[in-house]
Amino acid sequence: MERFLEGKGCLITGGASGFGRAVAYEFGKIGADLILVDINEELLYETSKNVEKETNQKVIPIVCDVSDAKQVKQMTEQSFTELDNVYILFNNAGTGTSYGVDILKIGEKAYDLTMNVNLKGQWLIDKFVCRKMNRQKFEPLKGKVIHTTSIAGNIVDPLLPVYSLSKIGVIGLTQLVAKSLAPYITSNAIAPGFHVTGIYGNREDIMIQTMKDANVKTPLNRIGMVQDVVDLMIFLASHRSNFITGHIFPIDGGIADVGVAPNTLKSDI
Ligand SMILES: NC(=O)c1ccc[n+]([C@@H]2O[C@H](COP(=O)([O-])OP(=O)(O)OC[C@H]3O[C@@H](n4cnc5c(N)ncnc54)[C@H](O)[C@@H]3O)[C@@H](O)[C@H]2O)c1
Repeated sequence: MERFLEGKGCLITGGASGFGRAVAYEFGKIGADLILVDINEELLYETSKNVEKETNQKVIPIVCDVSDAKQVKQMTEQSFTELDNVYILFNNAGTGTSYGVDILKIGEKAYDLTMNVNLKGQWLIDKFVCRKMNRQKFEPLKGKVIHTTSIAGNIVDPLLPVYSLSKIGVIGLTQLVAKSLAPYITSNAIAPGFHVTGIYGNREDIMIQTMKDANVKTPLNRIGMVQDVVDLMIFLASHRSNFITGHIFPIDGGIADVGVAPNTLKSDI
């Protein structure tokens, strides 16, 4: 594939694992220098070393809790010192808590943790990184922001209530940032369905059980692969998506729009 990210910096949050890690390998292979941000220090250093070895690109690991403004500010300063630009921001770190607990029974601590990482975290990252991205000289776009929401943000999932709320918020954030940064920076989001990553303990059986519990039906009749998300990310990072901003891209085998979304009433199936 054409090395279209040569000379471009990419900052990936949640870069130690799952989608962030897989995208790091792929973006490195097509020429990007990388900042990988994560709270899991051990895994972050391991991933960064492996990505650097496989891609021969510059890979800078920065340990940072995305929900902490002070840490995000410091991380941003360091990122723009290590690399001379951040052309792609993959605002992706996320967490899920309290699976199966009713929205009216969730504890305040669990609510705060999920909202602070998934929504406040993406907002803080946009706030600090985009300010500097906006001063870059690239044309026609100065940079691209890609958030990670979820199909649980399109159709609320009662088994993941606060997670759903946070991902609805990310959809709003994506659109607000798109308005705020047009016409020089685009802001879009990916909305994955069910893919085996760290949030399922990297276990296919746990993910399939979760889908069964919620009566999910996937029109394309297979589980999601991390590579499906990587392929979409390549498009969103390339010039071929330059006229797209403020949009949410489901990558779910058709579950949300033409399948049976999580926890649809049994009588509707
Ligand atoms: N896997 C799926 O099926 C799926 C579906 C829809 C959306 N998502 C979203 O995809 C994104 C990536 O998750 P994933 O599936 O690759 O899971 P993952 O657990 O493999 O990766 C998430 C990463 O985020 C990091 N992280 C968590 N809290 C953090 C914090 N406070 N600060 C910095 N880093 C933090 C974790 O350490 C981890 O490395 C998340 O936003 C998640 O909600 C995943």
